[in-house]
Amino acid sequence: MRASAFLSAALALGVPALPVSATSAAADEQMLTPAPVPAATRQAELLRLVRQDCGSCHGLQMEGGLGLPLTPRALADKPPAALVQTVLHGRRGTAMPPWSPFLSENEAGWVVEILLKGLPDAR
Ligand code: HEC
Repeated sequence: MRASAFLSAALALGVPALPVSATSAAADEQMLTPAPVPAATRQAELLRLVRQDCGSCHGLQMEGGLGLPLTPRALADKPPAALVQTVLHGRRGTAMPPWSPFLSENEAGWVVEILLKGLPDAR
């Protein structure tokens, strides 16, 4: 009788501190969660903007024109965060205009991601 009472007390004490480690794992995961992807209808609008507006300077196939080429190969070595800043704020002293009046940071990030992968019809 006494022995089994001792055993169950020991088991109770031996329960690992699961809740603590589970909570910090969840917090880590949340920090790594990528920014939300724009809704499908907004993605279609953004793709149209890239082809028409960006394409007017960067070329319909993003191979360059007045603006630099924005093909996956041309952008491969450039830090994506810097590209997002260029899209949002433009480049002073060049023809590259700021797009922050039209694009959220999130949307600019999505556009850069698409350019890095290659436009759906311009791979
Ligand atoms: C009026 C012309 C024009 C339009 C429209 C334009 N750009 Fe540009 N863009 C440029 C020029 C010119 C440069 C090169 C600036 C420089 O010399 O550093 C540039 C540079 C860039 C760069 C940096 C490329 C690199 O290799 O560092 C990115 C990214 C970019 N543009 C994205 C866009 C996107 C996305 C759009 C549409 C939302 C857009 N641009 C629309 C003219 C334009």
